[in-house]
Amino acid sequence: MPAELAQNDMTIVSKALSSIGDIATLPEVTVKIIEIVEDPKSTARELHTVIKTDPALSAKVLKVVNSAFYGLPGQIASVDRAIILLGMSAVKNIAVAASIARLFKKGKMSDHFSAKDLWRHSVAVGVTARMIHKASGQPAGLEEVFLAGLIHDIGILVERQAFPDQLADAINRCVSGEGTFRDLEVKIIGADHQAFGDGLTTKWKFPRHLRAIVGFHHTPEALSPELQKLGYTIHMADIICCREKHGFCITESLCEIPEEVFVGAGIDHSRLEEILEALPEEIENAESMLNG
Ligand SMILES: [Fe+2]
Repeated sequence: MPAELAQNDMTIVSKALSSIGDIATLPEVTVKIIEIVEDPKSTARELHTVIKTDPALSAKVLKVVNSAFYGLPGQIASVDRAIILLGMSAVKNIAVAASIARLFKKGKMSDHFSAKDLWRHSVAVGVTARMIHKASGQPAGLEEVFLAGLIHDIGILVERQAFPDQLADAINRCVSGEGTFRDLEVKIIGADHQAFGDGLTTKWKFPRHLRAIVGFHHTPEALSPELQKLGYTIHMADIICCREKHGFCITESLCEIPEEVFVGAGIDHSRLEEILEALPEEIENAESMLNG
């Protein structure tokens, strides 16, 4: 079993979640999509039927499928064709990514960072994690890894809504070198963004592995063995993106990637160079795919 939240965290998290309206509820269409893909008995036709009910989402899925990020030959004009070509899981992840992107669009988090900076960081971590996973020799599950990276810091959005002044204070004090972001969150708000993210994704009924990553991406060693590879992959991507300064980057201030992170993510040191080289273009492709 993955590590559990402490009782104190749970009280603060549930109070925060009940005080925020907007992001605590996922659009109904997204909830249905997650349910369909998590149910082994569901079919591609059911997924198509649900996506079709939301024309804006259908358009977004097609835009993403036809973007440089996927590099598919020719123009794909229908959602059912997209499902055949990319698979149900990929289309689900695209739909979830498209529907959570709106949560990051507006507002400031502190003097230094806006919600958009957090979105840039999140996209960068998703892209980097996908590349690390690929480099580890596992072609399956790429989209799942991308989505895990994309949502890993989503708990910060709960803090921004429930404790805006305290969050700004924690960020400002971290930037001025007073301590790590997580220590300052606990000191000022009472729990860190992992705890808030765990609460939010539980409320959203996200699958267990995504909840575990949101809740424990800074301490992948605390995850149960079958989730550790994904945990270390996201953790490594987080360190790389903070080091390369992609968007909001105070949550992981380590400069060197510890050896156990390479081992945990299952990649060799030699693969890091090629990831770093391809990263800026991959991030740009993913940003233009998800934005707008
Ligand atoms: Fe984080």
